[in-house]
Amino acid sequence: MSRRILVTSALPYANGAIHLGHLVEYIQTDIWVRFQKMRGHECWYACADDTHGTPIMLRAEKEGITPEQLIARVWHEHKRDFDGFLIGFDHYGSTNSEETRAHAHAIYARLKAAGLIEVRAIEQFYDPVKQMFLPDRFIKGECPKCHAKDQYGDACEVCGAAYQPTELIEPYSAVSGAKPVRKTSDHYFFRLSDPQLAGFLRDWTRPPRVQEEAANKLREWLDAGLTDWDISRDAPYFGFEIPDAPGKYFYVWLDAPIGYLGSFQALATREGLDFDAYWDAERAAAEGTEVYHFIGKDILYFHALFWPAMLHYAGLRTPTGVFCHGFLTVNGQKMSKSRGTFITAESYLRHLNPEWLRYYFAAKLTPTLEDIDLNLEDFVARVNSDLVGKFVNIASRAAGFITKRFDGRLGSLPAHDTPLPALQAAAEAIAAHYEAREYGKALREIMALADLANQYVDQHKPWEMAKQPDREAELHQVCTVAINTFRLLTLYLKPVLPRLATQVEAFLNIPPLTWADAGQLLTEHLIQPYQHLMTRVDPKAVEAMLADNRESLVPPPAPVRHGEHQQHGVVTKAAEPSALPPAQPAEGVISIDDFAKIDLRVARIVAAEHVAGADKLLRLTLDLGGERRTVFAGIKSTYAPESLVGRLTVMVANLAPRKMKFGLSEGMVLAASDERGGPFLLAPDSGAEPGMRVK
Ligand code: MSP
Ligand code: ZN
Repeated sequence: MSRRILVTSALPYANGAIHLGHLVEYIQTDIWVRFQKMRGHECWYACADDTHGTPIMLRAEKEGITPEQLIARVWHEHKRDFDGFLIGFDHYGSTNSEETRAHAHAIYARLKAAGLIEVRAIEQFYDPVKQMFLPDRFIKGECPKCHAKDQYGDACEVCGAAYQPTELIEPYSAVSGAKPVRKTSDHYFFRLSDPQLAGFLRDWTRPPRVQEEAANKLREWLDAGLTDWDISRDAPYFGFEIPDAPGKYFYVWLDAPIGYLGSFQALATREGLDFDAYWDAERAAAEGTEVYHFIGKDILYFHALFWPAMLHYAGLRTPTGVFCHGFLTVNGQKMSKSRGTFITAESYLRHLNPEWLRYYFAAKLTPTLEDIDLNLEDFVARVNSDLVGKFVNIASRAAGFITKRFDGRLGSLPAHDTPLPALQAAAEAIAAHYEAREYGKALREIMALADLANQYVDQHKPWEMAKQPDREAELHQVCTVAINTFRLLTLYLKPVLPRLATQVEAFLNIPPLTWADAGQLLTEHLIQPYQHLMTRVDPKAVEAMLADNRESLVPPPAPVRHGEHQQHGVVTKAAEPSALPPAQPAEGVISIDDFAKIDLRVARIVAAEHVAGADKLLRLTLDLGGERRTVFAGIKSTYAPESLVGRLTVMVANLAPRKMKFGLSEGMVLAASDERGGPFLLAPDSGAEPGMRVK
């Protein structure tokens, strides 16, 4: 019977790049969705960027752009990375959408009508300079326990103590540096401490809705007692304003899961789906639709307590299952920027094939909350031995004969003594493993079948048959068996290796494989000539990827000091003076050392204004990756100031400041011009960031 299923992954924050840790989740989910689709079910995969909150607001401000501009740029980066890893979302939206806003309003109104929203005044730290309330992460100070300086408002990174921001010694705002003051304001609370909610959640948080281990954790939290949840934040805040409370905004975690509804709503509109059949409590129960959330263990509290409570008391259905996974470690350790193991999706794709990682993660994934380790040596060895050595090898051993000796036609199959019945019989067992998210077990089973297929070829030695003209018919059958084993293995691996499967479907000249196709075999059928399907992993490419991710220690822009050279951003001592006299440069030619005196930097224009009384000049405020400079540039004839804000250009950062009639100019931007036009500002290629040195 065909099921109707909606699947989601957690919505990644729109203020950072996708990294391999994230991909554990998106790959795990994508495999499950592809599997369900292959089974013939109606299965939809919806996700979105999580765009609201203080960090995103402040980061946009720092970059001199609006939050909307920031989240639009990050959305494209995220989408590019997910596409690169073959994550097949049916819709990838944004929480900053009208659909999400409408659902947030509706849910809030229903919770309020149910008497579950309460307004209460609370006292918090407030930045008097920036004029905003400070989230814990934006307050720093001395740890009250170990007295380490510059610790965050919620926990100390030195001694590990957790505390309230008000306990910090000499607190200061990480935004402006100002000393925060205590200030009172009204906040909106979701009354989670209401006893009826605890009762509902105790009942709800049980297997199989959540995993056994998650259920235990949730029980502990419930036993400790839930406190009311603060769902409002005061302006300035990037988010949705609360309908009946001007100046108050929904806290990002209130609208983030509602983003699942918003994304599915957009998908439903596009595909003509019945939204309520999935989300209205009564309709969903009557129609048996299913909803699953894949999440990391760090956000279990939100998804298994806040979220079902919100849904239930708003008259919506609750998820059928919340599937929680563990965290990624690399070579047995937490991902680290200095070791280069904080690997971005983008850098991986620059060096390596996405299906290698999909396979490796799948081989390690279980349905538990255990962490999973990416051991890079093991990664190379496993992909090379399983995918290249065992799987792809089968096709390359048989296909050549089919093409050269039999005009590309598969023949008949022998009635006995082939591994095909065993391969076909495994279809349901493998499906059960995928369904239960036991991907490691599924792949072990598939690789055992690949071993059978290889043994069959080893025993029959088609390369010897090929030398004996009287064994032509036998050769044809053996190769036909081998190609059929390859087809079945491809089918079983397809949720993990969708691109390779598509290539194999083209090679075998067959329509897209579905699970039901395991019941059939391919005989008397024309196939295409074999083309190499997958190369081996080169360990050098892995090294190059790590090098790309190793954080370079870029110092703040500083003039080049005498006797030192700046190389790759690290100051090194100059080599011993050479005994040979330096070569005399030709006239009008400068040496590399002369060039190195010019400190060229990538800069972001964060503000551009007209200058009263100047008809050629614009006043530019440039961001050099933290440092700000004011520069007067004679570019008014070609640029409207508002068109410049947010863009990157190149500046001379060590030009002596010059006092002008209108103020101090602290550098120079580079622009091209001659009698044909200009000035036209230089623009660095994408990837360049403010503060990077141009050399
Ligand atoms: N924005 C929230 C989720 C809102 S869902 C309504 C968030 N974003 S996140 O970008 O930090 O993480 C997105 C998902 O990736 C989460 O499920 C998180 O657990 C997962 N992972 C992030 N880093 C991870 C690892 N290092 N390892 C495995 N999963 C990781 O949380
Ligand atoms: Zn401490």
